[in-house]
Amino acid sequence: MSDWTRRDLLKSGAVLSVGVAGALKGGKPLSAAEADASAVDAEAQAHPLPQSDTTAAGSSRERLLLDFGWRFRFGHASDATKDLGFGRSGTFAKTGNFISAGRAGYDDRDWRPVDLPHDWAVELPFQNDSALSSRGFYPLGRTYPETSIGWYRRVFEIPEADAGKRISFEFDGVYRDATVIFNNFYLGSNASGYAPFRFDVTDFAKPGARNVLLLRVDATLSDGWFYEGAGIYRHVWLVKTSPVHVRQWGTFVRSEVDARRGQATLSIRTEVDNRGQGAQSTRVTSTILDPSGKAVGKASTAPVSIPEWEGHTYEQQVVVKQPALWSLEERNLYKLVTEVEAGGASADRYETTFGIRSVRFDAEKGLFINGKSVKVKGTCNHQDHAGLGTALPDAVQLYRIRTLKEMGSNAYRTSHNHPTPELLDACDQLGMLVFDETRMMSSNPEGLSQFERLVRRDRNHPSVFMWSMGNEEREAPTEQGLRILTAMKRVATVHDGSRPVSTAPLGGNNMGKGGFAVCDVQGYNYADPAAEKYHQSHPQVPVIGTETVSAVGTRGIYLLDPEHGYVGSYDPWTTTGRASAEGWWSFCNARPWLAGGFVWTGFDYRGEPSPYSWPNISSQYGIIDTCGFPKDTFFYYQSWWTSQPVLHVFPHWNWERMEGKDIIVCVYSNLEKVELLLNGKSLGTQEMQRDRHLAWRVAYTPGTIEARGFRGGEQILTAKRETTGPAAKLAVRADREEIAADGEDIAMFAVEVQDAQGRAVPRAEDEVTFQVSGPAKLIGVGNGNPTSHEPDKANKRQAFGGLCMGIVQSSKQAGSVHVEVTSPGLTPASAVISTKDVKLRPSIPIWVREVPVGPGVTGVWRPAAGSDDSLFTFKQSGSMLTGIVEEARGSSEQTSTIEDGKANGNNISFKAGNTAYTGTLTGDQLRIERESGGTPGASLTPGPTGAIQPAGAGAGTPPPAVGPPPDGSDPSSRGWVAAQTGKEKKPQPLAPLMLRRIQK
Ligand code: GAL
Repeated sequence: MSDWTRRDLLKSGAVLSVGVAGALKGGKPLSAAEADASAVDAEAQAHPLPQSDTTAAGSSRERLLLDFGWRFRFGHASDATKDLGFGRSGTFAKTGNFISAGRAGYDDRDWRPVDLPHDWAVELPFQNDSALSSRGFYPLGRTYPETSIGWYRRVFEIPEADAGKRISFEFDGVYRDATVIFNNFYLGSNASGYAPFRFDVTDFAKPGARNVLLLRVDATLSDGWFYEGAGIYRHVWLVKTSPVHVRQWGTFVRSEVDARRGQATLSIRTEVDNRGQGAQSTRVTSTILDPSGKAVGKASTAPVSIPEWEGHTYEQQVVVKQPALWSLEERNLYKLVTEVEAGGASADRYETTFGIRSVRFDAEKGLFINGKSVKVKGTCNHQDHAGLGTALPDAVQLYRIRTLKEMGSNAYRTSHNHPTPELLDACDQLGMLVFDETRMMSSNPEGLSQFERLVRRDRNHPSVFMWSMGNEEREAPTEQGLRILTAMKRVATVHDGSRPVSTAPLGGNNMGKGGFAVCDVQGYNYADPAAEKYHQSHPQVPVIGTETVSAVGTRGIYLLDPEHGYVGSYDPWTTTGRASAEGWWSFCNARPWLAGGFVWTGFDYRGEPSPYSWPNISSQYGIIDTCGFPKDTFFYYQSWWTSQPVLHVFPHWNWERMEGKDIIVCVYSNLEKVELLLNGKSLGTQEMQRDRHLAWRVAYTPGTIEARGFRGGEQILTAKRETTGPAAKLAVRADREEIAADGEDIAMFAVEVQDAQGRAVPRAEDEVTFQVSGPAKLIGVGNGNPTSHEPDKANKRQAFGGLCMGIVQSSKQAGSVHVEVTSPGLTPASAVISTKDVKLRPSIPIWVREVPVGPGVTGVWRPAAGSDDSLFTFKQSGSMLTGIVEEARGSSEQTSTIEDGKANGNNISFKAGNTAYTGTLTGDQLRIERESGGTPGASLTPGPTGAIQPAGAGAGTPPPAVGPPPDGSDPSSRGWVAAQTGKEKKPQPLAPLMLRRIQK
């Protein structure tokens, strides 16, 4: 990933301009209909390096991305024959023999190649089944066994030099119920679709050889009630460390800011494990690097002897003078460099990004960050994006956070689950507070473990300001709820202790009851009046709106249209919660005791179609649609959540056959006065009240409706909507001019349908085809239409409300990427971006079988039929035959080098292992005869005589007619029985094999 900022790019002069005129910021339209400016600084446009704990240069620790080069196929939830035979035999019976697909030689060539992150649900066709409404009408679940199981397989080499290191896999998130198999050893299962998990696989790894990681992912059941995708939709890492190393998420920096003395005390906790032999004398040195990389503090511990296979927790304190605090405006990030010495030698080096800042809630005055009052202007969001489902490249996290910031939002609730780590990196870097939520509210082992993993993983992120232990749980206000939430809070205290905890209640009437009593901050969902009452009776308790209102509406639609599943985008007035931006925000902003709140939701998401069901497939709660195109409500919030001048007028002005009918024209603005004009004629000037909107009742006449915004008597902005002509052309613009050539980075290409004069045609639904040339590919399309049943994985999409979007991902090759958009009857448009060489983040190379080249039998061969996974690799040179036999027989798998190999015309012979082979070649068929050197049942060795036989039976005594078998017999062996009955079994020649050449 690139760590270049836009500033760097500008300095280097490397920025290319996009080949289309117009102004598109993020997902906003291209035409000049909107006068609002962007609140996001230039730096945020770049694509910074994720800040999670990374591989530190010069240490034996390596953290390698394992995203590229996977193979995927569907299994089956109820038919083992379509599920690679899973569960038919083997599996858990013996270690190291789980399933044939876990073997190295298994033929996965008919599996689909995929790179991670991957969500297979979004690739499925929609299904009109009311049981699927929460899942976005994608066929997942008990009644769709054929599309609910996914198998993932990845082959790679571990270098010989890694012998002796600890090797582990880290999964950031797999949806869901993952069964993980490595080199055909069962590693374990992870039920949660969100909690990260790790396996130490040192015992199963094969350094110097090929290794196979296999996952069976079962998305039959669900964790939530919204679209959750399916598959390995987050990163996978392979981590190598010395036997003595920092435990996963084993560092924690807690800062106490002393503003008066101008310093911060950092309490540093470091957990070190000794997974080597014998006790190790181990010490830790912690160095603090300031945002410029300068060391500003250092501390070393005394050596501690950590016994074999145990761990130790070190506590240190470092004072940082004049710290550069992390805040929403200045995202100063420090780094802790942890160096571990064991037995006098360097054992580990581990980096932790953190921020120094203080968080405090005041029951009367709300939230304070670094002593400064901050009203929480938050949104709740699920991880789901048009074209991608849940599988978001890291750059999409940045795009989404940038879009929310443009609106002025400063907080994000990760409803209702662990976020992807890169989302938190984006929030740290761009300045967005995070209310970090676990999925399972429970004190059962799974619930506590899920929460513990959340807290331990995320506790160093300065953006995370509060933990959420659950959402709308019926049991939360009960006695059991009290016990459960008490246990959960203990987890937060043990592993963090620096942040408040909260839980979102069902409504407002339960505030403070049962388990809510342990919440440091009381939340409420959709219950402003109840919250007010609660505050009056509990003035000492801080309160925040955990879910406040929704912006229920369809982008660009202003009439209720049940047939198409659309809702008009006017903000209905209500003060009781649910669906009024203005009702809630004017309530919230007028009450200093209320810390702020989280709108449900920032972005639309699949599932929970609202207020209709099929044919709606996605929710319409968002302020922004699934692509990132803003709805009108975006500008209400932008008016009151940012200080930049905003002026937005709606609806559009294309109302055929509506002449003379009254239309409510609304204006969102934070200017003092707004004048509205229809075709140049003033309809009056109105004064804007704080946190409100303006409206005029206008008899429709085609033409131009124009708003003029004034401040201090001066006209600051104008915004207009014009009646357009028919669609005539396309315009396209990328959100970024340059992206990293790393195979991961993305750019969003927004397309607008325009009339001949370049005005956005608000109702256009033309189908747009994307053609990408250059080193990049189209990875998804969308249009924000909650009723669209078009595939997201396609090269075309209908416009909706005049807009659609294509997401383009770089390859690892630098160059120029040209995106052309076409539509029948419209003038096409194109845009160019560049992809630049970057240092790729360390990743695991894709293993490719070496195929020898030569005459005769040279090539790779497999048995023509059956489930035999054997593989023969031959190299013929004249009459000499060399190669490798990878034989899978029964439950065993063995790789042997060919010895004594000869080729003579069409005949070959060789030995491998203890088997002798002869073969006859006919075209691409090879018939192989095998003779095994082993003799079943022949290994019986007689034991000492006299143990069971009666005393006195010396050598030469004939066996009794009736009596026990001779000592040392093994009556359980068929070979022995055959020998006793005189029908001794001869070693059976193995059945001949018919091989076919698969590669040469
Ligand atoms: C809330 C719930 C959210 C979502 C929303 C839809 O009650 O917490 O997850 O379902 O309703 O309106």
